[in-house]
Amino acid sequence: WATMEDDVAAIWRLKRERNAVILAHNYQTPEIFHGVADIVGDSLALAREAQHVEADVIVLAGVHFMAETAKLLNPAKTVLIPDLRSGCSLAESITAADVRALRAAHPGVPVVTYVNTSAAVKAESDVCCTSGNAVKVIESLGVDRVIMIPDEYLAQNIARQTGVEVITWAGHCEVHERFTPRDIAQIRVDYPGVTVLAHPECPPEVLDVADMAGSTAQMQDFVRLEQPARVALITECSMSDNVSAANPAVEFVRPCNLCPHMKRNTLGAIRAALELGRHEVTIDPQVAVRARAAVERMLAV
Ligand code: 13P
Ligand code: SF4
Repeated sequence: WATMEDDVAAIWRLKRERNAVILAHNYQTPEIFHGVADIVGDSLALAREAQHVEADVIVLAGVHFMAETAKLLNPAKTVLIPDLRSGCSLAESITAADVRALRAAHPGVPVVTYVNTSAAVKAESDVCCTSGNAVKVIESLGVDRVIMIPDEYLAQNIARQTGVEVITWAGHCEVHERFTPRDIAQIRVDYPGVTVLAHPECPPEVLDVADMAGSTAQMQDFVRLEQPARVALITECSMSDNVSAANPAVEFVRPCNLCPHMKRNTLGAIRAALELGRHEVTIDPQVAVRARAAVERMLAV
C-alpha cells in the first residue's frame, strides 16, 4: 500500500493537475495540516479564505458544515469533502423546522446561528457566528435578547461576556462537553504553573477555571504572542500537535479529546478525493441564497 510519502507526493501532483487547493481546519492531523494543506485556520478564517480562492477545486479537510460554508461563499467552485461521514454533533442537533419553531415561540427575537450547522439551518437564521466573532456579532445587533443556536455552552459563555440574554438550544460538541473542572484542577496539580486555554464549546464551569477562552485561532495567537512556559489546550487533540510545531520553547500538556468526524480525513481520503473528484458538496439553490445571506452578514460585522 501507499506510504505517507507516496500520498503526500501524489496529493501535491494532483493539486497541480486539478488546479485544486486544500483548506484544512486546525484539528487536522499534522501530516495534513503541515504536509498538504494550502490554507489552515479556525472556522472563521476558513470561511474568509474560501471567498478568495481562485483555484477550480476546493478540498475541505474539515467537516461537512465547513465544506458547505465554502460552497456558499464561492458557489462557482467545485467543493470536495474527502469523507461524507465527517459530520458534527452540533450540526446534527438541530433542523430547519426546529429553528422555525423557536422563532414562532419567540417572535421578533433575532436568530444567531453558530456556523457548526447545516445550510438549511443557516437559511432560517438572521446571522451566523463562530466562536471567534460571537461577541462582536451579538453586540452588532444592538438588542437585549437573542436566540443563539445550537451550542448551549457557547451561548451561555458568550452571554456572560455580552450581557445579552440568550435563548439556547441543547446542542453540544461531543469533544468539548466531556471536559470537566476536575480535569483542569488535576492538570494544575500535575503541571504547576501551567496556563490553561479552553475552547468556548466547553461547559461554563470549565471556562471558569481556565486562564483564557477562545477559538482555535485565538488559542494559537495567545501561545505565539505570550509564549507561556507550559500550556494546556482544552480542545481537540491535533491542536497541541499543530501549535507546538511553531512554538518549540513552549511545553504542551496534552489533555485532549479526539473528534471522530475531523479524523475521517486522512491522506488516503484526500488523495482519493482529488483522484476521483469526490465527494462534491451541493446545496439546493433556494436554501443557498438564504444561508449565504446569514454567513455574509456575519463576515460584514
Ligand atoms: P474554531 O476553529 O472556529 O474554534 O472551531 C472549533 C470547532 O470545534 C470546529 O469544529
Ligand atoms: Fe463538531 Fe465538536 Fe467535532 Fe468541531 S470538534 S466538528 S464542534 S463535534
